[in-house]
Amino acid sequence: NAIVGSVRTVLGWMPSQWLPGGTPDPLIERRAAIGRQASRLDGPLKVAGKARFAAEVIADRLSYATLVHSPIARGRITQLDTSAAESAPGVILVLTHRTMPRIESPALISMSDFSAVGNSDLPILQDAEIRYNGQVVAVVVADTQEQADHAASLLTIAYAREEPATRFDDAKAKSRTPDSLLIERNHVSVGKAERELAQAAHRVDNLYRTPWQNHNAIELHALTVFWEGEDALTVHDATQMIAPSAAVLAKIFGLKKDRIRVLSPFVGGGFGGKGLWDHQILAIAAARLIGRPLRLVLSRESVYRIIGGRSPTEQRVAIGADAEGRFTALIHGGHSVMPTYGACPEAYTLGSRSLYRAKSFEILQHHVELDVVPNTFMRAPGEAIGSFAMESAVDELAHRMGIDPIELRLRNEPERHPISGAPFSQHARRQAFTDGAERFGWGRRQSEPGARCDGEWRIGMGCATGSFPYARMPGAAARITLRRDGSAVVACSAQEMGMGTSTVQTQHAADRLGLPLSDVIFELGDSALPAAPMAGGSSQTASVAGAIIAAAEKLIGELVRLAGNDSPLAGLRAGEVRLVDGGVGSIEDAKRHEAYSSILARAGREEVTVTATGSPPLEMLKYAMHSTSVVFCELRVSDVTGEIRVDRLLGSFDCGTILNPQTATSQFKGGMIMGLGLALTEETLFDERSGRIMNPSLADYHIPVHLDVPEIEVMWTGIPDPRSPLGARGIGEIGITGVGAAVANAVFNATGKRVRELPITLDKLL
Ligand code: MOS
Repeated sequence: NAIVGSVRTVLGWMPSQWLPGGTPDPLIERRAAIGRQASRLDGPLKVAGKARFAAEVIADRLSYATLVHSPIARGRITQLDTSAAESAPGVILVLTHRTMPRIESPALISMSDFSAVGNSDLPILQDAEIRYNGQVVAVVVADTQEQADHAASLLTIAYAREEPATRFDDAKAKSRTPDSLLIERNHVSVGKAERELAQAAHRVDNLYRTPWQNHNAIELHALTVFWEGEDALTVHDATQMIAPSAAVLAKIFGLKKDRIRVLSPFVGGGFGGKGLWDHQILAIAAARLIGRPLRLVLSRESVYRIIGGRSPTEQRVAIGADAEGRFTALIHGGHSVMPTYGACPEAYTLGSRSLYRAKSFEILQHHVELDVVPNTFMRAPGEAIGSFAMESAVDELAHRMGIDPIELRLRNEPERHPISGAPFSQHARRQAFTDGAERFGWGRRQSEPGARCDGEWRIGMGCATGSFPYARMPGAAARITLRRDGSAVVACSAQEMGMGTSTVQTQHAADRLGLPLSDVIFELGDSALPAAPMAGGSSQTASVAGAIIAAAEKLIGELVRLAGNDSPLAGLRAGEVRLVDGGVGSIEDAKRHEAYSSILARAGREEVTVTATGSPPLEMLKYAMHSTSVVFCELRVSDVTGEIRVDRLLGSFDCGTILNPQTATSQFKGGMIMGLGLALTEETLFDERSGRIMNPSLADYHIPVHLDVPEIEVMWTGIPDPRSPLGARGIGEIGITGVGAAVANAVFNATGKRVRELPITLDKLL
């Protein structure tokens, strides 16, 4: 979601009268494959074990690497003895700051340069200094993984420790308030919110806390590296940023653009964590030194040590309301961690800018600097935990006022964006609430907490809403190759992390070209294809779709030219035809149509190829565009043990056109399950004395397992957004947004206990 701001940065100079209104995409009305149930096209490959992931690429003379991490958070390496490791069986290389080639660090993720995607700009194994606990101090490469792992245990390293900054409360005193949160200005001040709050008829004013969280994609971070000599590089990487990684790696290793190729056709989950980190750069450097293919698969522990997660937050939310429940003051701010060498301000206040109308706003985030691995984007960065605080506070206010929490929210529904005043492109939260409440049986909820019991269990219902910004990335490109047999290949270096991109864009391309699904192939996952931006910020579908739209426009021009004067299309201009029924047809007169095969045959062409870049995403400047969630939860809490059992979860979404009900349902459910983890179990245990993560494993860091996951229902308004490609907005991150508060509010309804600190574990309920 680093995108709205970047588009504003890049295009902010453009006078608003130049901005096109965003003509509705004709495919919103005319779709065949889109919106139909379609199983994943890559499903058969995956269940047959034929989808080759980055750690499965086969190579002769493959070498294996392992990482050694610093056990201290700040200081220097004073002694380093690698001799035992180097003489261990099978060892090829021990890379330390002494032997690592001198390289530049990647540029941090930036607003104005989409090929800048570094999560950290700290030196990578360039000196003896230790900057956070877990930092890589050595890479050991051997003939087998076991030999590398064993040799890593033989290193002798001595450190001079210095006092690290690892205590959140101590560091708060020195926090910063930067101007920008990457995508929007940090400080929002409308009216006199503190005064309005003090004078409000009703108010709540509380602190909410959320913990450190770590990424746990089931596929570990991994890459297999091939050098051809010193100046040609192929990397099979598990990444959600193929083209940007290729650009950054080319720069770091001094390669020409066409001498590097990053391949990533399948990724086993990304969630924001599969970006560019130290391990890729170290593996590539090591492989170049030894002149052999190299594989590095991070251990689960290494993922915790060197891949950042979600920052902890301490958030104040205060809401003032008049006697009718209309908000007069909305205050949201607090502290989260962001080191100066990181790139991800945890933007937990973003949602609060668009959720409610209020007479006054005061919103400001403080950044706390600690000596830690930089945090990064983690599914709905900001919004997932910001909505926990905001939507808990709204529930508290509703209870205090004796108003149904849905009714209180609907009384404060904005007509336009509450801060910018921009019109919503499409906004049906009211319907999402109403439809969801009816399906869920919200009417059965008892407003009195603790009123429903079943033996030792107290039963409660809660709900919450959330929003996540729409984004379409500038610069996405796609290529269409149309063949004489009437089939087509559409290509773009998009990322498939399991969410269904390859399937959905095949559906899209089929409809866009007027072809059956079986006649279209969508190629992705390769930096040799036209550049796609990273898959992030729930922006990939719209970005890639925009590129395919531009390529299809260009194709029309090309086909009209090729059709010439002997075609039934003769005399028609590009603007008067469309791609339909396997060919080009007049918009006005359905009888004037010529099949692709006929046009290409007469022109003596085997195929025609066009490449184009999507139009600038001006719709984002003119309209407030947000995906919306409404989450309902029913759960029970044991009076005896405090144990929480979630019985039912329902998500009601307003995200524009749903392109594929099957993959979308999975995407929504996956987000909601991750939300259950956020609400109830996930917590990185961070030792504030040493800066050490104490539970770096799936055994000790609890994500929901099947037995924790209840019946989940998903529904949507499906109302197309007239300003976006296909009428669709992003769905990757909205699923998790609102789940934390829906659970917390249900816990309150069940027990009368308000837990303002995640995760809601049983000790907090006794
Ligand atoms: Mo997402 S947190 O932008 O993968």
